[in-house]
Amino acid sequence: MSLPKAELHLHIEGTLEPELAFELAARNGVTLPYADTEALREAYAFKDLQSFLNLYYELMAVLRTEQDFADLANAYLARAAAQGVRHAEIFFDPQAHIARGLSLGTVVEGLWQALGDSERDHGISTKLIMCFLRDESADSALETLQAATPYLDRITGVGLDSAEVGHPPLKFREVYEAAARLGLRRVAHAGEEGPPEYITEALDVLGVERVDHGLRCMEDPALVERLVRERIPLTLCPLSNVRLRTVDTLADHPLPAMLDAGLMCTVNSDDPAYFGGYAGDNFAAVHRTLGLTEDRLRELARNSFLASFLQDDEERRAR
Ligand code: HPA
Ligand code: ZN
Repeated sequence: MSLPKAELHLHIEGTLEPELAFELAARNGVTLPYADTEALREAYAFKDLQSFLNLYYELMAVLRTEQDFADLANAYLARAAAQGVRHAEIFFDPQAHIARGLSLGTVVEGLWQALGDSERDHGISTKLIMCFLRDESADSALETLQAATPYLDRITGVGLDSAEVGHPPLKFREVYEAAARLGLRRVAHAGEEGPPEYITEALDVLGVERVDHGLRCMEDPALVERLVRERIPLTLCPLSNVRLRTVDTLADHPLPAMLDAGLMCTVNSDDPAYFGGYAGDNFAAVHRTLGLTEDRLRELARNSFLASFLQDDEERRAR
């Protein structure tokens, strides 16, 4: 679906398609434990977030050089452009790469090769959001933020991802305070598999401006009321929710109820290579399966720009 839209919830490592994974494996002399792309695709039957994350981290082994990260980002941007994405705020997971012996510079410089030319090459403006892995320690997150000091001109904000349950936002209070002092924007995954309380904590303790997923807010009417009142954007990822069994089927997805409740929802692809669709595919799926009207789709597209960090750039320039 080519409606112009912004993508606000996209893990660049989750755009690694099987074909590119094998190409990079060959280029870098990495052996993948799958015979071919078909065998790899068969491993994409996830039972929950963790079962996905295991494969997501395993396949990162093929990403070794700046060129690999540039190729990965260019492949995503080309696909996103074809589906109407005009602006993308892109997550990356530095700790997962540093743990494999790569430098943060390799990752950021590589991504920047693609992002720096993205408006010219793909008609997409971009921002980079550095995520901390919540199943790693708070100290590790702080070290990662320190290591990012030379790259802060390229990093717009910080996020929080990976295994949610048992790793509440509170664990990362200090690093989010440090990020705020550096002028970085703040978002966090909350309420994907974790309880509604994690959403409240992300807002109150981490000071996030947007909540990634936030799906489980629907279990707490007072929280829904607050999110509506404060116009907190939620970056929903419907196809991801189906593949990770957060909802039983797409037809059961609460997006229509969330829009009816007045929540500021956006629709995004999360890890499109793994979950069966890019941003436009997610729009098409909710149109087809949830019966969202054209007006609702336009509302979602408008929300995506309003909830983006572009908005504030423009407001700041106007002041
Ligand atoms: N949830 C949490 N962490 C992630 C995800 C996700 O969907 N994708 C990549 N890291
Ligand atoms: Zn995500």
